[in-house]
Amino acid sequence: MRRLKPNPSLTHVLVVDDESAVREVVCLWLERLGYRCSRADSVASAAYLLKNQAFDVVTSDITMPGKSGIELLHLIVEEHPETPVLMLTANSDTQSAIQALTQGAYGYLLKPVQREEFLCQFTKALEHRRLLVENREYTTLLEWKVSEQTRAIRSAHEETIQRLVTASMYRDDETGGHIKRTGIGSALVAQALGWSAEQVELIQLAAPMHDVGKVGIPDAILRKPGKLTEVEYSVMQTHAVIGAKMLAGSLSPVLQMAEQIAHFHHERWDGAGYPERLMGEEIPKAARILAIVDFYDALMHDRVYRKAVPEDIVLEMIDKGCETHFDPEVVVAFLEALPAIRAVSVCEKDHELAPPTSFFPLMAESRMSEVDSWVGTL
Ligand SMILES: [Fe+2]
Ligand SMILES: [Fe+2]
Repeated sequence: MRRLKPNPSLTHVLVVDDESAVREVVCLWLERLGYRCSRADSVASAAYLLKNQAFDVVTSDITMPGKSGIELLHLIVEEHPETPVLMLTANSDTQSAIQALTQGAYGYLLKPVQREEFLCQFTKALEHRRLLVENREYTTLLEWKVSEQTRAIRSAHEETIQRLVTASMYRDDETGGHIKRTGIGSALVAQALGWSAEQVELIQLAAPMHDVGKVGIPDAILRKPGKLTEVEYSVMQTHAVIGAKMLAGSLSPVLQMAEQIAHFHHERWDGAGYPERLMGEEIPKAARILAIVDFYDALMHDRVYRKAVPEDIVLEMIDKGCETHFDPEVVVAFLEALPAIRAVSVCEKDHELAPPTSFFPLMAESRMSEVDSWVGTL
């Protein structure tokens, strides 16, 4: 960092002394060198000046009528920690001068003050202040750079995740709106469950990756317009394990959570899900949250092969699924978060769908014949 030569006219000094002769001499020495000086004859008037403007250095007598220079020192140390204070004191009071040093004064001079000695200490005090200010500015700059870099890394991370999700969307019939809503909806349910802000943010980023494993499912199955055979259905189910493998081994907490969600989002509370047939608390909570949010959102919105299911029917299905399909605690949190989840649906609409013709119109030709099994591939 290049050092600029200090400009004396920009340096403002406060000279505090009840003896006007001392004040004037000190100011004369400084003003002749180009420094700006303000004068105060008591601690009270010095405190008033300090309240209204910044000073680079303060010189103060110790013994004055009213409050002592030590009290002024305390105020400056407390409220203006970058302003060095030089104490001026009578020869007989060296004890107070030493006390001042221990309480934060930069230096002290015995009266009668010698010009050379004063200017030497003054210059050092000024340099001390310059270093303190420079150090603070440097620290602020470093903190800003670190936070900028953290922000850039984070946004690159989020963008990468977004692109991964987008890539999987091209193969599936999921919509961008659904992907976004499952993230926000999971975050709202996690919040209702009392998760920390950090964990809530993680699930918001991780949940949209629940179906990335569908990129590994052959088109003939993934895009089959009719009902899947048993074998095809079991191939379709492998998207959970494929997704987990795609996301495994990361040091990123978001990807670690995403791996759990991808792997276990089709498990059921009663152990009848897939792929590991985990049961109850064995299923990671994040996957239990996404499972219900995904279920609700997928049914509540149109798909190219069917129309949205009315909400009362969806809620009835969730109620029926409580303690079989879904974790009952998560169901309660979901219902608590439902008004906010509905509001998200209003803001994050699907745009790219061809209009479906009727409620469950293609059910006969769609991949599944019954709602329950159809829901199994959500
Ligand atoms: Fe899935
Ligand atoms: Fe989904």
